[in-house]
Order: sequence, then C-alpha cells, then structure tokens
Amino acid sequence: MAVGSRRARPWVPLGCSAGVRGSRAAPSPSCPPPPRLPPPGRREEAEAEFIRAARIGPRCPSFLAGCGGQSSAAPEPPAMEATASLLDAAAVGDLVLLDPLTEESLLRALQERFQRGDIYTYIGNVVISVNPYRSLPIYTPEKVQEYHGCNFFAVKPHIYAIADDAYRSLRDRDQDQCILITGESGAGKTEASKLVMSYVAAVCGKGEEVTKVKEQLLQSNPVLEAFGNAKTIRNDNSSRFGKYMDVEFDFKGEPLGGVISNYLLEKSRVIRHVQGERNFHIFYQLLAGGSAELLQRLRLRQDCRHYGYLNRESSSLPGVDDAANFRAVQDAMGVIGFSTDEVMALLEVTAVVLKLGNVQLSSHFQASGMEACSIPEPRELEEICQLIRLDPSALEQALCSRTVKARDEMVLTSLSVSQGYYGRDALAKNIYSRLFDWLVNRINTSIQVKPGKQRKVMGVLDIYGFEIFQDNGFEQFVINYCNEKLQQIFILLTLKEEQEEYVREGIQWTPVEFFDNSIICNLIENGTCGILAMLDEECLRPGVVNEDTFLGKLNQACAAHRHYESKETQNAKRVTDASLPPRCFRIHHYAGKVTYNVTGFIEKNNDLLFRDLSQAMWASRHPLLRSLFPEGDPQKVSLKLPPTAGSQFKASVATLMRNLYSKNPNYIRCIKPNETKAPMLFTRELVLVQIRYLGLLENVRVRRAGYAFRQLYGSFLERYKMLGKKTWPRWAGSERAGAEALLAELPIPAEELAYGHTKLFIRSPRTLFDLERRRQERVAELATLIQKMFRGWRCRTQFQLMRKSQILIAAWFRGHAQKHRYRQMRRSALLLQAYARGWKSRRLLRELKSQRRRHRAASTISAYWRGYQVRKTYRKYFRSGASARLANFIYRRLVQKFFVGLRNNLPPLAVTDRTWPPAPYRFLAGTNQELKDIFHRWKCKKYREQLTPQRRALLQAKLCASELFKDKKTLYPKSLPQPFQGEYLGLTQNPKYQKLHAVAKDKLVMAEAVRKVNRASGKTVPRLLLLTTEHLVLAEPKGAQPKTVLSLGDIRSVSVTRFSDGFLALHLKESSTGGTKGDFLLVSDHLIELVTRLHQTLMDTTAQALPLHIADQFSTRFQKGDMAVTVVESAKGSREVPVCKKKGSHKMEVLVH
Ligand SMILES: Nc1ncnc2c1ncn2[C@@H]1O[C@H](COP(=O)(O)OP(=O)(O)O)[C@@H](O)[C@H]1O
Ligand SMILES: [Mg+2]
Repeated sequence: MAVGSRRARPWVPLGCSAGVRGSRAAPSPSCPPPPRLPPPGRREEAEAEFIRAARIGPRCPSFLAGCGGQSSAAPEPPAMEATASLLDAAAVGDLVLLDPLTEESLLRALQERFQRGDIYTYIGNVVISVNPYRSLPIYTPEKVQEYHGCNFFAVKPHIYAIADDAYRSLRDRDQDQCILITGESGAGKTEASKLVMSYVAAVCGKGEEVTKVKEQLLQSNPVLEAFGNAKTIRNDNSSRFGKYMDVEFDFKGEPLGGVISNYLLEKSRVIRHVQGERNFHIFYQLLAGGSAELLQRLRLRQDCRHYGYLNRESSSLPGVDDAANFRAVQDAMGVIGFSTDEVMALLEVTAVVLKLGNVQLSSHFQASGMEACSIPEPRELEEICQLIRLDPSALEQALCSRTVKARDEMVLTSLSVSQGYYGRDALAKNIYSRLFDWLVNRINTSIQVKPGKQRKVMGVLDIYGFEIFQDNGFEQFVINYCNEKLQQIFILLTLKEEQEEYVREGIQWTPVEFFDNSIICNLIENGTCGILAMLDEECLRPGVVNEDTFLGKLNQACAAHRHYESKETQNAKRVTDASLPPRCFRIHHYAGKVTYNVTGFIEKNNDLLFRDLSQAMWASRHPLLRSLFPEGDPQKVSLKLPPTAGSQFKASVATLMRNLYSKNPNYIRCIKPNETKAPMLFTRELVLVQIRYLGLLENVRVRRAGYAFRQLYGSFLERYKMLGKKTWPRWAGSERAGAEALLAELPIPAEELAYGHTKLFIRSPRTLFDLERRRQERVAELATLIQKMFRGWRCRTQFQLMRKSQILIAAWFRGHAQKHRYRQMRRSALLLQAYARGWKSRRLLRELKSQRRRHRAASTISAYWRGYQVRKTYRKYFRSGASARLANFIYRRLVQKFFVGLRNNLPPLAVTDRTWPPAPYRFLAGTNQELKDIFHRWKCKKYREQLTPQRRALLQAKLCASELFKDKKTLYPKSLPQPFQGEYLGLTQNPKYQKLHAVAKDKLVMAEAVRKVNRASGKTVPRLLLLTTEHLVLAEPKGAQPKTVLSLGDIRSVSVTRFSDGFLALHLKESSTGGTKGDFLLVSDHLIELVTRLHQTLMDTTAQALPLHIADQFSTRFQKGDMAVTVVESAKGSREVPVCKKKGSHKMEVLVH
C-alpha cells in the first residue's frame, strides 16, 4: 500500500530531516541536501536506507504475470553492475530491494533478519513484524529517544518509526491517522498496538493533565484485557474481541482523550472452551486475587474447579500471576476513574455469570406427561439472587419455564432440561457480553473528550486476525469477513490511488487489473443475496428453520459464484473432494480457502435470549445488571426482533471501514513464526503460508512493478543538480526542463524514466540507486572541492594573518630596540657631557680659587705694607693711653644708645605686666636686671599712691588674710574674690538694730550674722556678731539686744579647721569677764574676713598678733570643764556643715568637708 495516502507523494530526499515518508512530505525545495558522507563501513547501510526511502508505487497486482519482472528485464546500464551485490543481499531491511524477488528469497530475507534479532522489516513503509516470543532490548526509553523525530528511512526498521511517523504526520500535517495491525492470532498484534500506544504516550507532550489522560488511555488496556482476553491454544493472552481505539489530540499533539470501539466479543467462551484453553482472564484473576472478604461478599469460592464454566483441569498459566494481575486491574480501574461502587457492581455481575454455570437443572414429568425441568439444588440460585437482589422463585421460573403467546394469551410453558440449559447459558453469555459493552462505555465516559475541542485522531486497530481452524464456525466466518474488508482497504487504497496518480500526471499508463476482493466481500455482505443477508432471512423466516435449510438456500444462491463451494455445488460439477464434508460451505478468501460448518449459525446469529430471562434481570434491584437489560422492562415490550448478530457486525464493520477510509492508514503486518510460542523458532512452512495470504510477495511486486520512485521536479533537481554540467550550480530554466537536461546527460535508458506534469517517475530502484550512488560520489567530489577550497582559503588567510602579525611584531621589536639604543646613547652622551663640564668647572674653580688666594695674598701683603708705611709715617703723632680712651668712648656710646633705646621702648605700666626688653650686650645684663626691678617697684609705688584709704585698708586686710591663711585653710582660695565688706547687717539702715547702734558707736569694724554652737548640745543658734575696735559683741537677732560683750583683750586665741568650713573656736582668757560660760564656738559665713579683722584690730589696739591655730583637734575650755573638739571630714553632701555632734560630755565632733 503505498501508503497511505490518497494524495500526491513527492519523495523526500534522504538528507532532509523532515523525517516523513514521501507520501506525506511536502515538496521541500528549501531543504538543503547536507553532503554528509557515511563512513566506509556504513556506506552499504546508508545506501540501503536510501533505497528504503523511496516511494515504490505498485503498478499491477502480483498475479499479472511478467509485470514484476519488468524492471529486471530492462537493459541495465553498466554503472549499475556494482550495485547488484547490494541489492542481492538477502537480509535487507526493505524487501523492495530484494533481487531476485521470489517467495523463497522473501522468506529467506525474513528468516535471516529474524535470526539476527531484526524482527521488523519494511515493504516500503508497511512494517512487517515477526513475533520473537521473547523480550528484546529494543523498547527501552533510549530507543524511544532514538526514534523520536527520526527520519523514517534513516533508522533501522522499527515499530517506533511508523508510530513516530504517524504521530508527526498527525501533529504537523493535520492528517488523521490510523494504524492497522493485522496478522493471525498470536502474531503479536495486541503487543504491537500497545507498543504504538506507549510510544505515542512517551513522545506526546508532558504536564499533569496530559499525563493523567495518557495514564487513563494506557490503563484501559489491562482492564479490557482482563475481561476480553483469554488463553487459547495459540496465544496465552489472545484478544477475544476486536478493538479500535481512537486517540484524540489537540493541535499541539497533546492527547485529549479517546474513544474505544469493541467488536464481537467471543461470548461463547463464557460457557464453553476447548480443552487446554481458558475462559476469560477475569474469572481466574478474581478467584486468585480477590481477598477472602471480597470472595465472601461475592459468595464465591477460591477453587476454580468448583465452577462449571471454568477449567476442570489446572487453571493457572505458567508465568502468569493472576492474583497480581487482578490487583493491576483494580488499580487500573482506579486510574480510569471507576468508583468503588462501580467496581463492586462489576465484580458482582461477573460473579453472577460464574455462578450461573453452577445452576443445575433436572427433569421431572408433569401431570400432563410433559417433561419439565426444575432446580433440585437451589443454593447457588439463592446466592445469585442475593447478589442481584431478586426473588429466587422469579429467577427459577424464568430459568425453567417460558411465557408463550397463544392467541392473545400468555401461556407459561415449562422447558425441557436442554432448553433450560440453553436458556441459562444464553443468559450467562448475554450478561457477560453486555457487561463488556458496559465496561467499554464506562471507560469511554472517562476518557472521552469534551465536545467543541478541535482535534486530530489517531486510530489503532487491533482486531482478530484471519482464522482457519479445523472446524470453523460462525465466529470464524465473521472474523474472516472483517479481515476480508481490511484487505479490501489495503488493496483499494494502494492500487487505486497509485494508478490514479499516473493518470493525473499524464503518464502513459495501461490501466492495471488487480485482484479486487470486493467480490468476496460482496458474497458475504450483499444486501439481498449475501450470505449474511440469507442467514438473517432464515432466522426471521417462520416455519421450519435450521442450518440445513440455510445451507440449501446458500447453495441455490451462490452456486455459480467463483469463491463459493459446497458439497452440493461440487456434486453438480461432478467434483469429488473429501476435504469438504456435508453441512459445510467453503469460501475462497483472499488468504485461503476456509470451510465453515453451518452448525450453530442460526442460533448464534439469532443470539436470542428468552424474554422471561431478560425480564427477570430487569426485575432485579441491582442497578448495573438491570441497566444491561433495558428490553426486560414490561412497559417497553417490543415484538420487533432485535437485530441479528450478523447484521450488527456488518453494520459496525461498515462504520469501521468508513472511519478507516477517512484516515491515513499505516500498516503493521504481524507474522507468527511458529505454533509453539517458542522464542526464536522460525517455521518456514508456517511463515510461508502467512506470507502468501498476507500477500507480501504481491505487495513487493506491486511496489516494484510501477514506477518505483517519483518526485516533484523541483525537489529532484535540487537533489541531483550536481550531476549535470548544465544544471550545476544553478539552473535558470523551468524545473522540468532542468530535470530533463540533467537526465539527458546521464546514461540512463529512456524507458527507465517518465515525465509527468509535475513529477518525474523512475521505474526501477536500481536506477534511483545508481543516481544516488552517482550523487554520493559527486557530493564526495564536491565536498572534497569545498574542503580543498576551504582549506586553501583557511591556509591563505592564516598565512596572511601570520605575516601581518609577524610584520607588526618585527616593527614593534625594531622600534623598541632603536628606542633602547637611543636611550643608551643619550645616557652616555649626557655622562660624557657631565664629566666634561665637571672637569671644565673644576678647572675654572681651581683657577678662580688660586686667583682669589693670590688676590688675598696681594691684599694682605699690600695692607701690611701700607700699615707699615702708615705706622712708619704716623708713629710720631700717637700718644700712650689712647686705646683706653677710645675704648671708653666706645662703651659710653653703647650705653647711651641702650638707654635711649630703653626710653623709647618702655614696657606697659600695668602692675601685673612683668615684661622687659633683653639686654643688647652681655656687659649690660646686670644693669638691665636692676633697671627691671627698679621699674617694677616704681610701677607698684605709683599704683599704691593712687589707691584710696579704704581700698588700701581693704587690700591690707586681704594681705593680712593671705599671711594668716594662705596654703593653710581650704576656705581661703574661695574667699579671695569676695571683697571684705565688713558690714553685712545693714546696721544703719535697719531701725531694728537701733540698740546695737549704741554698741557700735565706737568704730564698728565688722558686723555679721553668725551661728553659735550650743556648748551643751552642739546645736547652733543664730547670733549677730559685731566687731568694734574694742569689743566683740554677740547679740540675739530677734531683739537685737547684745548678749555677750567681750573686750578684745579677753580673746586668747582662735582655732579654725583646715577645711572649707566656717567653724571657729574663740578661746578666751581665764580672766575674762564677758565669757563666763567659757570659750565660744561660732560658725561664720565670712570666717576669713572675721579672723583677719580680729587679728588686725587686735594688732591695732594691743599691738599683739592674734594666736591662730589651724588644726584638726583642739580643746576648749567651758564652764563645765574642758572639751576636746575633733574635726572629722565627711563626704560631701547636701547637709549644711559644719555639724557639731556632742560625743559624751567632753568630746565634740565637728563634721566638715
Ligand atoms: N514484540 C514482541 N516482543 C516480544 N514478545 C512478543 C512481541 N509481540 C508478541 N509477543 C509475544 O507473543 C504473544 C502474543 O502476542 P499478541 O499480541 O497477544 O498476539 P495477537 O494479539 O496477535 O493475538 C504475547 O503474549 C507475547 O508473549
Ligand atoms: Mg490480540
């Protein structure tokens, strides 16, 4: 099938990485052919791949004798000789390259490839897959990467290549695709479909949502396989239903979801299977993998042998873990989105089917003498009814009897045991097949795409293959019909389109007859006289109907048909054929003659279920089971018979065909290499049969008979223009003229070529191969030329660059050397110059020095000489002592000058200013000091003279205070800036002190407020103190009444502390009259002034100094005895000091600071 496309198929050059098969590749003039030469070892491989790339179109079917040999008959150009060995190679990846092409060589090629582990082979772009029956390391993620985005023809044949090609055509070219996988049972179709799906899933987009969709799509497989697959003699995991899955993608190529269609489940397997086979996997999986709790709930036993529908012999399969598979199925259902209730309901219905097989019937005779059946052991029936929540008697009645309509009256008739079993089995089959349909629909609900989204579709068809058994029944008949239809697609799409293209292109073309299997399809599906139509007719016909009447009818209608045979038609032709037994008919299918036994045709086609049973099912309160039997609703009783199995199948095949026609098909043809499922065993006879019926040889021939290659002129010219002198490097004319001019230059026979309107056609692969070889040689030459030119250019530019650099470096170096030399010369010249100048200067200096010496010598000599002369002349005029007088004179002049200068420059007159100019000559230093002292004393005298008597007295008082206290009492420095006021009380102004006036009349010296320390307690009391020139008076401040009047003569001495307090002790003479109580302790704020004035006054009046003690300890004399006063220094604080504290009767502490 050329695959795939009913559109123009320009051939894509090998070098173009578009990676699409020719039929889909758009003309790509822009695609540059990269001149990559394969390494010598890979050359052959590359050439073979190239040839594989070719689109080989069929021209005539295989059976047109001579057609296939057309190409080999053509005279071969000498250049092609060398390639023959390559084309003869037995195990080529593309069978189109086989030469000679015979059944034997084809078989040998497949066998050799198979034994090398290459299970995939191409015919053009049809993939042939031989089942290896062992796992090969060719499905790894690395392989997926290798084939992802690959060039279909540049990689080894692989199923991934076709999957990738289909996926990319879908994504990039917006073409819906379908992948048709055909082959007989066990040939690897299902595996192939899974490989395609998993590849597409691996390469199509990522992301959470996409992954979920992918998972759902992939997980539908284990679920469907569990319910739809079974072990058969030929295949341990044989699909017992046809499956077509549409995967839908968005414009980015990301999967959106899908739709699964299922075809004709082999439901008879539910009730019966051949020895050595098994029922559907799910039953075994459920029993092996279901937990005890689950089995209990489903009322099942774990032992398979308990169930009539399952194997009596060993049920487990080697290498298959049913329990693990059951868990996988449960997980998969979870992924798809089944709720736990749904899973439970599904398993319950499955259990019901299994248990139905155990419902035993027995016969008894009714009163009427009629045989009737009943259920002797109702346990199983009851359990079923518990599961489906139905009244057991209702089910028993439905199983054992039947309602018949007789003259508008419903009559219940009992069934015979065999009728009862027939009904029971029909029910089991129906429940199971309807459950399977429900399952598919349920999966579809999960994976369906929301409407409205624009989508592209990739369909994968994995349908049961052509089956020829010893005994072929209704199932084989419909299966083979379906395969016949698929073959029809294959033939029509391949041959029709191929020929149409030649006509379209205006190529001279004799229309080729090809075997159209529509005659067989018509024999089966024709609406009036087709086998299916007649079967339906027989089923619907009233009266006696059985298989014999059906066969008779067939023999009548198809007697003359070329593809129909039966005993009767043979007899008519007087042919004896022992292989065709009676009650059989034979059809000459495309894949071989198959003899069908008509037994069971009517029953299977009718597929009838007693209405009582469907009504009983509908009556159950199990929602899922009930929904499977909508016709059981008594409200909707329809007298119309349901469509027969045959017509249903025909309709669904027709839909499938329409679906496939609308898509671009990709073929995977699976071959089974042996009957024993043995790894790597290649049974030639078995494969040969398949090669024959798959029509592989014809397939290759068809591809080779027509023009093997075609390509748009533009693309052809682009690829091969380097082969012609006129066309290389550019062709200015039309593309077709260019191609013609190019080919005219080459030694290719004219019959090898055909010029279409838009495309060039090349008949044999050899010619193209030769072209390609020439091209490769030419490309190699051109590549060498380019290399040569490039290397020359590169060397030249490099040389020029090096030369330029060398010149630059040399220039810089020379410049640098010159500069260096120059600097050295300059340094030397300067050195020489310096030496010369130095030498000259030194010579000059020497000269000048000697000159000066001579001058000086001459002057000295002349001075001495003149002196001598003068002395000699004036000696008589000089007297003795003249020098002393001269010296005196000079001294006087100097002193005079000193005094005059001093007068003009006297220092300021301020007393405190002690500045004085220094002596100008050392002999005047003593004088100068003297003068300085005199000046100072004079300044002081002047100052004193200008003082007022009060000020003088004040200063005298201050002086006296200084003599008394300086450096002895801490209070003294504080008193310095305070002027001695003497009168602090304001006696004259304050009339309060009137009385004191009188006391002070005799010359007041000082008046102030003091505090007197109580001799007994140490506390102080305020007193006014008046000091006159004769007395010291203490008065009370309130009354201003003198309290104590002491004559100054009574004062013996005064004691004060060292600190800054105002404490004083006034020691009185013992003879004193004023102080009878003893010495006074006073605290004065003007202590310094008070003591000073006291001292001065005493001096003035008595000419005696006041004895003043400044000490830390002294004793006082009181009336009550002596008291030791201790001065204690306390920390400074806010407390007023001094504080006197009495300590016992003879001790007092004065706190001061
Ligand atoms: N590509 C393969 N690699 C390894 N084993 C394979 C391959 N294809 C098929 N098989 C084996 O062949 C068996 C039958 O394949 P299957 O696809 O179920 O056949 P079919 O669907 O054609 O009846 C599989 O169970 C598997 O063991
Ligand atoms: Mg299968």
